[in-house]
Amino acid sequence: MRRLGLPYLGIMLGALLATSLSYATLSGSLNEKQIILRLKPEGEVRIDATGSAPIAKQTVTLEVGQQHYEEVCHVCHGTGIGGAPKFGDKADWAPRIAEGMDVLLKHAIEGYKAMPARGTCMNCTDDEIKKAIEYIVSQSK
Ligand code: HEC
Repeated sequence: MRRLGLPYLGIMLGALLATSLSYATLSGSLNEKQIILRLKPEGEVRIDATGSAPIAKQTVTLEVGQQHYEEVCHVCHGTGIGGAPKFGDKADWAPRIAEGMDVLLKHAIEGYKAMPARGTCMNCTDDEIKKAIEYIVSQSK
């Protein structure tokens, strides 16, 4: 009995250890939080890959300018409110275009007479304002 006792205890301990280890692994893999945490980066990468990246590429064109023009500038420049040079009107824009892009951009960003700073779009970046002017100019000369 005594001779069998120790190895038997060892086997029992071993079995117990194995069981608790596999239980730990099992409960670990079933832990909801861990699953979410493990999946999270993959989900984020996927959103980036299918969402932002291709859209960001398209934005480097006149389309951005057009979008900002329509959303912000058209209100006044579409009809010439307050003496705003009208979109597409060559006579209105010729003397302005002659001032050069730097001056037009400065006036559009800082404001000029009845032209409000950034055409009221405080969220617009300098680059977006520039693209809007480039779009207006491209359609008005
Ligand atoms: C609230 C009306 C209004 C909005 C909105 C507006 N503008 Fe104007 N803008 C004017 C008026 C009025 C003038 C003419 C100012 C003058 O010369 O008396 C003008 C003039 C300009 C000029 C000519 C400046 C110069 O040096 O002759 C540019 C360029 C311009 N706007 C760009 C823009 C852009 C780009 C946007 C949109 C992001 C915009 N504007 C939005 C009213 C507006």
